Amino acid sequence: MKEKFLDISQRAQEAQFSPIRKFVPYLEEVKKKGIKVFELHIGQPDLPTPKEILKEIRNFREKIIAYTPSDGILKVRAAWQEYYKSVGINLDLSEIIVTIGGSEAILFTFAAISNPGEEIIVFEPFYTNYNGYTSVAGIKLVPLRTLAKTGFHLPNQKEIEKKITSRTKGILICNPNNPTGTVYSKKELKMIINIAKKYNLFILSDEVYREFVYDGEKHYSIMDFPKARARAIILDSVSKRFSACGVRIGCLVSKNKKVIEAATKFAQARLSSPMVEQLAVIPLLKNSQKYTRKIALEYKKRRDTVFEALKKIPGVKCLKPKGAFYITVKLPIKDSDHFAKWLLTEFSFQGKTVMVAPASGFYATAGLGKDEIRIAFVLSSLKLKEAMNILKIALKEYKKNF
Ligand SMILES: Cc1ncc(COP(=O)(O)O)c(C=O)c1O
Repeated sequence: MKEKFLDISQRAQEAQFSPIRKFVPYLEEVKKKGIKVFELHIGQPDLPTPKEILKEIRNFREKIIAYTPSDGILKVRAAWQEYYKSVGINLDLSEIIVTIGGSEAILFTFAAISNPGEEIIVFEPFYTNYNGYTSVAGIKLVPLRTLAKTGFHLPNQKEIEKKITSRTKGILICNPNNPTGTVYSKKELKMIINIAKKYNLFILSDEVYREFVYDGEKHYSIMDFPKARARAIILDSVSKRFSACGVRIGCLVSKNKKVIEAATKFAQARLSSPMVEQLAVIPLLKNSQKYTRKIALEYKKRRDTVFEALKKIPGVKCLKPKGAFYITVKLPIKDSDHFAKWLLTEFSFQGKTVMVAPASGFYATAGLGKDEIRIAFVLSSLKLKEAMNILKIALKEYKKNF
């Protein structure tokens, strides 16, 4: 008997493959051929995870790796509280929920504040995996474009207000921004708060790159503004801050009791965050700046290397990022998806190539970002220099053929 066709959900059909990860199968193939790939597509830092974290993992002495409280082990939440205090944010322990990476904080927040079909305003280009979680939560991201010519800063209040409908539940910002590196000013944050108050919206503030700001820029957290506190939700993570992406520890912070209560229900459904890794990040959370100051200087050096090299490539346009460790780059090509794949499948120079993330997936508006890529400067300056030279040679060759 012929099997009946089993249909997957509409939301699954509409969900995207992450533009950061979708070319990984080609990466595996190209590596098998012995070609060296400079991996600039993903925000996976090459900096060693601090030895304090590794030591905690190696010295783990409990007899059982057990479930932990759903909102996080108390002393881990206390360590987060201490961390926030060190960056000028005073929180009650009840305002912090430990999550499985910043990713889970995003999902919990989307699900906590919006019903299926409701909307969240976001500024594009934006961190592409917000798309993945809107698919899971069944909600819609409403994009507003930011432009290179204005430093990818926010549109004005009028433009933002035009996007607000009866379905809008919140405004999502990522500050410092992935993928543009933009750091929002006090004035911009105040504008967002004004709009949120006027239309009774939540403000979702993804601050996972908080410490990575350059050139004397100051980072303002959404929690720095007392007027925002009732409606603000911070989405946070140790992944980049402590070069510890694989420990999968993040947190959701809110002074809104209903948000915390809702996120707690979701946290209880998934039982617990990983025990060993939660405990492992305590020492760094309690003394973060010793580490983050050092690595922020390193990323600034890398940013300079990449920016200076890109500036010299004919037809390439980009802005010097003020924060995070990404740069959005406009290339003299028509289809960066095709280019990114071509780099892996058809091109190499002296046995080497580069892997980049095509930027179209960082936009929600169809057709945007097709001539842009995102580069993560997560390798040493020496390697980045070589990678940028390879990119320059690749572009020249690509333009001859396409
Ligand atoms: C802006 C932003 N938010 C959240 C995350 C999620 O990170 P994680 O789940 O590793 O904490 C990332 C990861 O790249 C990111 O760039």
